[in-house]
Amino acid sequence: MTMQDLFDTIKPEDIQDNIFKLIGSDWMLVCAGTRVHYNMMTASWGTAGILWKKPIAIAFIRPQRYTMLFMEENPGYTLNFFDEKHRNILNLCGSKSGRNIDKMNVEGLDTMETPSGNLIFKQAKLALECRKLYFDDIKPELFLSFDLEKIYTKKDYHRFFIGEIINVYRAK
Ligand SMILES: Cc1cc2nc3c(=O)[nH]c(=O)nc-3n(C[C@H](O)[C@H](O)[C@H](O)COP(=O)(O)O)c2cc1C
Repeated sequence: MTMQDLFDTIKPEDIQDNIFKLIGSDWMLVCAGTRVHYNMMTASWGTAGILWKKPIAIAFIRPQRYTMLFMEENPGYTLNFFDEKHRNILNLCGSKSGRNIDKMNVEGLDTMETPSGNLIFKQAKLALECRKLYFDDIKPELFLSFDLEKIYTKKDYHRFFIGEIINVYRAK
């Protein structure tokens, strides 16, 4: 199976799904690494849009996530979206760490390497391939609303990665 058998490459502006629903309710698997060693985790916080004249997506990763190591070590990452029938996989990857289970052998998930060397999942209905452009950490001294402190009782402020969307793969 080649990439072209499973996916069409479309422009970001041709994504039909609602991004609020995709990220906020469908959730996504953030994946980074190489075929030899990669990791993924479920995320429901993030965004996509335009910045610096480019289509971009932003993922927010807490420092204790195993995925953080892969986000830092690799030049890119992918955001993978699935149909409802794969919810069990999203629940697993959102509750177990790759430090404790072998996430490279999760049943029902297979990777495919893109020409740029990033990994997407064959089962994804949509995958955004991103090239890292920028990162920073959420800084509590910059909070403008005290409500935000409640989200960080462990002071595990997210690191966010802004990536240029270099490819959008839509399942055929
Ligand atoms: C629905 C859902 C959404 C989540 N969203 C995020 C998120 O946006 N950022 C984050 O750091 N963790 C998020 N998590 C938690 C991670 O997915 C979870 O801690 C996971 O086990 C980390 O795996 P890892 O240690 O292999 O990276 C979410 C979990 C669930 C179930």
